[in-house]
Amino acid sequence: MKEKLIKMALDARRGAYAPYSHYQVGAALLADDGGIFTGCNVENASYGASCCAERTAVFRAVSEGKRRFLTIAVAGGLEGREPAEYAWPCGICRQVLREFADGNKMTVIVAKSVSDYKEYSLNELLPNSFGGESIQ
Ligand code: THU
Repeated sequence: MKEKLIKMALDARRGAYAPYSHYQVGAALLADDGGIFTGCNVENASYGASCCAERTAVFRAVSEGKRRFLTIAVAGGLEGREPAEYAWPCGICRQVLREFADGNKMTVIVAKSVSDYKEYSLNELLPNSFGGESIQ
């Protein structure tokens, strides 16, 4: 499954719309029912209106009725090149993932390729996080 998600993230990266940063990102998100949703970054001339690949994938999945996620694979790098570094999810995307995941159980994979990747729990990337239970 890990390999499949990484391949799907690398493939989704090809859909990235990143004419400003030229940094293209793809993500593949595994839901708890086995469904997989991909996303890419979509930039905007008004930079703040851009959306990261991870959030594109989460919002696609949530809009299809999914609410719990188990794993996400992320791959990114400069346009026209294979990923040279691991593409770490930004803070906003970590927080968005946290809304729909158990931080101890969710695995975040950052990949350069199917054979070169690292994996972390979401809690490792977003410790002591804030969530809905605190405001209910
Ligand atoms: N980006 C992502 O897609 N995911 C992240 O977690 C970090 C950044 C995108 C946003 C923007 O289009 C480009 O990478 C450069 O910041």
